[in-house]
Amino acid sequence: MKKISKKSRGGHWLKEPAGAIHILKAVRDAVPDAIPVTVKMRRAFDDTPEMQRNFEYLFDACYDIGCAWVTVHGRTVEQKYLGPSRWEPLKRLVDKNPDRLIFGSGDIWDVNQIFRMIGYTGLTGVSVARGCIGNPWIFRQARTILAGNDPQSPTIAEQREVLEQHFDLALAVNANTRDPELMTAKNMRKFGIKFAAHHPKADEVKKQFIYVKTLEEWREVLERWYV
Ligand SMILES: Cc1cc2nc3c(=O)[nH]c(=O)nc-3n(C[C@H](O)[C@H](O)[C@H](O)COP(=O)(O)O)c2cc1C
Repeated sequence: MKKISKKSRGGHWLKEPAGAIHILKAVRDAVPDAIPVTVKMRRAFDDTPEMQRNFEYLFDACYDIGCAWVTVHGRTVEQKYLGPSRWEPLKRLVDKNPDRLIFGSGDIWDVNQIFRMIGYTGLTGVSVARGCIGNPWIFRQARTILAGNDPQSPTIAEQREVLEQHFDLALAVNANTRDPELMTAKNMRKFGIKFAAHHPKADEVKKQFIYVKTLEEWREVLERWYV
């Protein structure tokens, strides 16, 4: 909150829609026509009528400028992550703009909530954020449901494969640090803890990931629990 206000980042622009529109126009002009430009914003800066008007003004402008769609997170900036993402304002937005592509965001923790949010609001689509950290299978599960089948949980082998792939990608990101492997093992601990939720022995595996501090310890957890 402090940073976005001080440095005029992200949600700050919901307080200054004319400036936001200026930026969006510049982006739309700079990007080749064939490439869609999309916008992501919270549902308002706060719950005052003035900020509601700002949101609507900016939201309409996005489509007038030629943005392909807007994704709206159902929390205000002021709310940070406190309290739920409200779906009613998203539903009202869809009801008022039936011909526009509108995406929603907020509190999608499992695959069923994707369909619940779309069912309730009528949104074109939803964006999955914290709910896919440690659960990349949520997208596969959504496709399975769309095809009319029951979603499957990932097998142990699939979980291991993704843990290893995630580790390798993190290692590449940390390549320029003093001890890339140690750094990556430490970074991956928090993801391991999230991934553990899919394991049949979730509590035990979670505890093991909590103690990971070195590459050897990371490998030991995989060797012991993901075979
Ligand atoms: C690690 C992380 C990074 C994010 N980065 C962005 C971002 O770059 N741009 C953006 O519009 N929202 C970003 N968000 C916000 C999410 O897209 C989403 O709107 C918000 O987390 C609410 O959805 P959720 O309750 O399903 O997590 C980020 C969220 C997280 C957790």
